[in-house]
Amino acid sequence: MKIKNGEVWRDTDGNVLHAHGGHILFYGGLYYWYGEDRRDDCYVSCYSSPDLVNWTFRNHVLRVGSPVEPTRVRSDLRLKNDNGRKVNLERPKVLYNERSGKFVMWMHYENGSDYRCAAAAVAECDTPDGDFVYHGSFNPFGEMSRDCTLFLDGDRAYFFSASRDNADMHMYLLQEDWLNVERLAGRFWPGEYREAPALVKKDGLYWFFSSFCTGWAPNQCRYAVSPRLEDGFGMLRDTGDETTYRSQPAFILTVNGSETVSYIYVGDRWDAGNYFNSRYVWYPLEFPGDGSVRMVECDELDIDAATGRISW
Ligand code: DGJ
Repeated sequence: MKIKNGEVWRDTDGNVLHAHGGHILFYGGLYYWYGEDRRDDCYVSCYSSPDLVNWTFRNHVLRVGSPVEPTRVRSDLRLKNDNGRKVNLERPKVLYNERSGKFVMWMHYENGSDYRCAAAAVAECDTPDGDFVYHGSFNPFGEMSRDCTLFLDGDRAYFFSASRDNADMHMYLLQEDWLNVERLAGRFWPGEYREAPALVKKDGLYWFFSSFCTGWAPNQCRYAVSPRLEDGFGMLRDTGDETTYRSQPAFILTVNGSETVSYIYVGDRWDAGNYFNSRYVWYPLEFPGDGSVRMVECDELDIDAATGRISW
């Protein structure tokens, strides 16, 4: 079944799919796609699919009126700012924590008035598509924390986020319940201003993708490789073209099928003039085996989630 890059994507009810800057979690035989939904009182929406092509709307899992509950982390629990307006919750990522039995979401928080909070926000839920409970926003170790992602490595979860006004990329090991950071486990590419982090593990290597910082305008995607996360990565190298085919990384999707495993770059094609007109692009990643990765531009992508085969 085919997806069409850059077109308007609709859910199985025919409504436009709102899941930007997001993440896909595979759980219980279904793919769950979480992403930014900036309409009305929504923050994060969730869709599910058995095949990665047909997406059914499940829930607005985080909203202005979501349940709020403090944890041991002293955080800002407000889901509206002092002017009564919506805050910004960007780049939501969700993982399932087997130890706690909870679905844990991390995001980037700004207060909706300026871009200076640079905080991480956390929410969690008992089910993948239930009403997530908001645990607030905070600055890990007092650090700025903007564009972010989560990455599960065995039973260790890491939170990556852009720090020092986006100059450096931080990697935090999370505590066992994933509700707080345990330690700062890496500071990468100081002064290189990387945004939109996305990771995947393939053949024992960790592949890190990111963009440069140019607001909503697309720029060159770069990647780096690591044999062991806490030992750091190599230098950043280009993949795709100078605008990443007019997109910015959201996450890397692994399609683990019965015959093969495929890797797909999922990017947002932002519309700088009208956020709600932003689109999605899914591009195959090819790994020739020489330490490089090639992003393949295509108009259409055929995905067979059962076998893991993709073609274009
Ligand atoms: C680039 C970020 O990657 C996006 O998530 C968004 O925050 C824009 N900047 C806002 O300018």
